[in-house]
Amino acid sequence: MLAPAGVQAAHIGRLWDVFLVTCSIVFAAILIALGVALWRSPRAGEGTPPDVSSVDRHEPGPYRSVVVATLLSVVGLLALLVASVWTDRALAHLPIDDAVHIEVTGHQWWWSVTYAGKPESETFTTANELHVPVGRPVVVKLTSNDVIHTLWVPNLSGKKDLIPGRETVLQFRADTPGVYRGQCAEFCGFQHAFMAFEVVADPPEQFAAWAARQRQEAGTPTDPLLVRGQQVFLGTTCIMCHAIQGTNAHARSGPDLTHVGGRRTLASGTLANTPEDLFRWIKDPQKIKPGANMPASTLPDADLRALAAYLESLK
Ligand code: CUA
Repeated sequence: MLAPAGVQAAHIGRLWDVFLVTCSIVFAAILIALGVALWRSPRAGEGTPPDVSSVDRHEPGPYRSVVVATLLSVVGLLALLVASVWTDRALAHLPIDDAVHIEVTGHQWWWSVTYAGKPESETFTTANELHVPVGRPVVVKLTSNDVIHTLWVPNLSGKKDLIPGRETVLQFRADTPGVYRGQCAEFCGFQHAFMAFEVVADPPEQFAAWAARQRQEAGTPTDPLLVRGQQVFLGTTCIMCHAIQGTNAHARSGPDLTHVGGRRTLASGTLANTPEDLFRWIKDPQKIKPGANMPASTLPDADLRALAAYLESLK
């Protein structure tokens, strides 16, 4: 959040600076006033303490201090309110003429990501990773499949809720290429902490190449290990939840795996995307993310190794 990489985040960063400076000054002023009051109060054993009940509310000294303190507080809070409203309006003023349109749906505990294309055949679905072109606005439509989640990429924008049965919209623009971590920021169950994702901001040509690759269907493997892996995938319960375009697997209740091998992480930012971690994940997801919808596998390790190799080959 302190290192904004886009125009929206820069607005929020400036608002943060205003709040930090204002609140620091107020904090310091209050501590100094408290210190002075303590220093000027009668010490123990020195004279008699003042009788509080006899203090005259209209005695000029204390009365004036209270009025001044109240006025300063009101002015300070109003200034912060104006700064907040101004930032909020600035956030909504992103021109979105040539925007990239993405739909993100929250699930316990992962993200499905669909890039709207024209024509419809250009549309594709991926999971747990957003790719965006640098310098172009992005409009993300958000909804949820189960409970309320929140999408938050501190380097790029503020938070936005994903609410079942409703559609919310988040707009941002990445101005610096890089990989930015995002995190679900609304408690959504047991594995809320492991509902992360990454936003990869690439130069426009690189983004276009990535999108073109995502639109392609998975190829037919020829290597015997990969052939075995594909048979395992299509012949077991994997296809009841997952899709791999170009095969008979079209289920949508789990992440789309058409290009899973090309992603940076597994299990929504929980594991690195390596053959070993993928093997561990499909062997027993409950050990890594207890409560996740994917059950432990009963298949022999050799089959799972072949399956992991096949999935990793889907770049
Ligand atoms: Cu999804 Cu927290």
